[in-house]
Amino acid sequence: MPRGVRLVNREMDLKFKNGKFTILQIADPQDLQFVRPAMLKMLDKAYDRVSPDLAVMTGDQILGNHLRDCNNWTRLTVRDKAGEERALRTALKKLLEPIERRGIPFAMVYGNHDDMNLVTKEEQADMYRAYPHFIGADANDSSVECDTCNLPVYSEDGGKMLWNLWLLDSARFDKQTRRCSAYVTPETVAWYEKKSAELRDANGGVPVPALMFQHIPLPETLAFAGECEKKDASCKEGGRYYKLKPGISGVMGEYPSVCEQNVGQFEAIKRCGDVKAVVCGHDHLNNFEARLDGVDFIQTGGASFRCYGSSKTRCVRVFELHENGEYRTFTISYWDLMGVNPGSLLRYYWEADEMAYIKGYTLGGAALAAAAGAAVWAVKRNIDKY
Ligand SMILES: [Fe+2]
Repeated sequence: MPRGVRLVNREMDLKFKNGKFTILQIADPQDLQFVRPAMLKMLDKAYDRVSPDLAVMTGDQILGNHLRDCNNWTRLTVRDKAGEERALRTALKKLLEPIERRGIPFAMVYGNHDDMNLVTKEEQADMYRAYPHFIGADANDSSVECDTCNLPVYSEDGGKMLWNLWLLDSARFDKQTRRCSAYVTPETVAWYEKKSAELRDANGGVPVPALMFQHIPLPETLAFAGECEKKDASCKEGGRYYKLKPGISGVMGEYPSVCEQNVGQFEAIKRCGDVKAVVCGHDHLNNFEARLDGVDFIQTGGASFRCYGSSKTRCVRVFELHENGEYRTFTISYWDLMGVNPGSLLRYYWEADEMAYIKGYTLGGAALAAAAGAAVWAVKRNIDKY
């Protein structure tokens, strides 16, 4: 076990309560040490409304490649790895403290942006493990990457494993070449198949119902993008326009950015027969529920206000697992949580990334109007003297 690594709290078993187990997925909170308050307020409301049994962060918790950009006027406040580590620690604290304060167990997988800095994933894993309610990757388990693991969910009396949660790493960043690779590795898929078979054997030969969480969508997600005329959709790729194929509920606001290599993960999932749904983030403007070959593909819109997003897709997603192996999922949007009122509108206008231009124009226009008004008043005042 690496030095300084504390084992996660295995006493904190996940169990059903009153016939139900509720998971809150937070996709792409993606912020810096100065986390935008609008997102934190949205998440605060979500924790209180849902009271989840588990929160799962599905990657890009941090806007890792911009940790060094923060400056005090013209002076960079972060210049080296130690500075990045300080900034990262502060950003995580602001994101995770509201979950800790409520005593909600939480788990995570990394996204491509978490790793795009000098702090390694193993070092970041140590930061997560320092939180008492973190129940993710364990330094002693057999995972192939430090965020890859499985979490059993037990019956209320703890006697039977009713569900299983897969958490898979899908993105890594080469610190030397500064190149990001976005795919689930063949080693991870092999680990999943082996572990899934072990769980099935222990369950009397019946696959244990599972959700699989990872950051980057599976390549098969492209099957849900239907080409269309420009007038039909805003989602563009290579000069062509796409939208969700008919019959799929949700929003496709961008062409899916999927795993860059297909290592046979979906074929493995079908062979194992345990995964009810693959749950992803990464594409902030995509928020939909589709199905292929009996497996649900769940895409959840990004929560971040610092990064690109839209008023239709900033949300959290809820999963309600049932003892009979079925589940229900739905999203709760910023507007559902905050209401539509002057405060929520002003907060959205002030903090949402895509409002930057509009804010620039309106504030610039207001400043010009004020200056023009002042000039008119000054001229009028001088005229009135004569
Ligand atoms: Fe991402």
